[in-house]
Amino acid sequence: MSGLFITFEGPEGAGKTTVLQEIKKSLAARGLQVTATREPGGIDIAEQIREVILNEKNTLMDAKTEALLYAAARRQHLVEKVKPALEQGHIVLCDRFIDSSLAYQGYARGLGIDEVLSINEFAIGDMMPNLTVYFSIKPEEGLSRIHANGLREKNRLDLEELSFHTRVREGYHELMKRFPKRFRTIDASQSKERVIEDVQIVINEALKKIQL
Ligand code: TMP
Repeated sequence: MSGLFITFEGPEGAGKTTVLQEIKKSLAARGLQVTATREPGGIDIAEQIREVILNEKNTLMDAKTEALLYAAARRQHLVEKVKPALEQGHIVLCDRFIDSSLAYQGYARGLGIDEVLSINEFAIGDMMPNLTVYFSIKPEEGLSRIHANGLREKNRLDLEELSFHTRVREGYHELMKRFPKRFRTIDASQSKERVIEDVQIVINEALKKIQL
């Protein structure tokens, strides 16, 4: 498979969605073919699943049901959008992917990283990202950014306590140890401009290694 599969990961309010759009523009301005997308969602079926998972009314949702729904949305999005784009040689920038499930459901919800990895392996096969950019920010800071400027719609996971988001961060730290070659960490508490520069550096390094 050609192309380059890059995922953006991190806790709530880390700014990855905004930065992803800026990176998309700058790569496209260099004449590169880019597909920007997000999880859960990115295509119609997965957006429908997103609505079920994140609906604030669904407070009864069991943790394993949640993990399976994320994996189902991931499978459909991968087959319908990510794989075809990579086959056409695109750089795919995906806002969240498997590591969100490993950190949120596997670690923070306590289902186990290995257990959640195994259902996701069923969903994605060997389609792991080439590069994962991790936006590091303290959960308090991320959450206060969301509340301060109403950056995005509130969802069911926003109803969680700070302790949950602290566990999400610990989960990501576990994943960095597990997948050191794939993970690159960016200090997301910097200004937006500095964060964009840092992300550009790690993406350029990855681009040097392949020929698109
Ligand atoms: P977003 O706010 O980045 O669009 O993500 C939606 C929420 O879903 C966010 O709270 C993180 C959570 N999430 C998981 O818990 N597991 C996953 O696999 C994914 C993709 C997202």
